[in-house]
Amino acid sequence: MIKILIKNIKALLQVGEEIPAVLRGKEMATVPQIENAYLALEDGVVVAYGSMDDWEGISDWRDLEIIDAEGKYVLPAFCDSHTHLVFARSREEEFVDRIKGLTYEEIALKGGGILNSARRLGEMSEEELFEQATKRLNLLKSYGTGAIEIKSGYGLSLQAELKMLRVIKRLKETSGIAIKATFLGAHAFPKEFKENHRAYIDLIIHEMLPAIEKDNLADYIDIFCERNYFSVEEMEEILTAGKKYGLQAKVHVNQFTVMGGIKKAIELGALSVDHLEEISEDDITALKSSTTIPTLLPSCSHFIGIPFGDARRMMDEGLPVSLASDFNPGTTPSGNLAFVWSLACVKMKMTPEEALNALTVNAAYAMGLSETHGKIALGRKSPILITKQIPSIAYIPYAFGDQHIEQIIY
Ligand code: NIG
Ligand code: FE
Repeated sequence: MIKILIKNIKALLQVGEEIPAVLRGKEMATVPQIENAYLALEDGVVVAYGSMDDWEGISDWRDLEIIDAEGKYVLPAFCDSHTHLVFARSREEEFVDRIKGLTYEEIALKGGGILNSARRLGEMSEEELFEQATKRLNLLKSYGTGAIEIKSGYGLSLQAELKMLRVIKRLKETSGIAIKATFLGAHAFPKEFKENHRAYIDLIIHEMLPAIEKDNLADYIDIFCERNYFSVEEMEEILTAGKKYGLQAKVHVNQFTVMGGIKKAIELGALSVDHLEEISEDDITALKSSTTIPTLLPSCSHFIGIPFGDARRMMDEGLPVSLASDFNPGTTPSGNLAFVWSLACVKMKMTPEEALNALTVNAAYAMGLSETHGKIALGRKSPILITKQIPSIAYIPYAFGDQHIEQIIY
């Protein structure tokens, strides 16, 4: 058994037995913490914690590793509930096009965007996709990501979607962290189906979903509900079919356009509605009486220059807010959640505590991991972060772009 004692912790954060599964509105303002604390782990499982003042010493020194965390913070690893980590190649030429004035929509309409990534993914072997994704995931882990959701959606054919999902399944087996797989066959209409949406939707419903169920390749289903992509009606049909295969929805909605997709996704039992850079009064009203969590993606807003989600309004209305990276080659070529934390504070006026809650407790909820991730409590086993010596926890989003995590315990 590997026993670890972390002592003299400047503050142990997001700790306690009573932290709810999801934090709404004002509840997001505080993060429970113990100053001058210790934390004891056995094979990664939390067996004791408390104030150093109450510490009773060590009765059994055998096989015990002691970590002195003087001046350092200890907190649960971040959860990233929305990523497109598996892809074939970066798309910096579109980045340059945007600098020169084209919009995301214009680039997509001239053959760039999701279809660009799908073309490249089709040509890449499963092995190489897996190797590249593993490298990316290792980098994200070093930034503090301790659980991650990964979507398909750059395949857009039966074979290529299954290939992506098999890569995600292999990552689940090899990465050592919790991974959720989301089927996003409805990410865009492939070129050959541009004039025949019916045929592609049939392919998703009658071929892709059964094949995914057969090999147990997905935990959730997603769709890009947006002008020029999938309509609210098409979303209803696809999510309803997904439900029959036991897949709960997590959807891309309101990134550029308010179309009524939030309300419909809630009706269909979505766990999360993601993006929400655009939002209407009706959307807020629908969210208020639901268990669906809004997930905001500030790195995407930053990178393609669109509005930031209105986290303050949502919290003032009593809603929960979760934050994720949206890591993908088109709109968010960074999966660094410490940077997301900083953007949430600077651009969305979330306090450091609100944003930390959105990256831990609420992010775990947004990917169905409330029971295991997002907080430190007795009997739990999930990754734990030890920071470098820093003056305060707000220093992490404040001193953006630097690495403040010193060690991760799995
Ligand atoms: O979440 N908006 C849809 N999907 C991705 C972008 C996909 C791409 O451009 O490759 C997103 O931003
Ligand atoms: Fe996305």
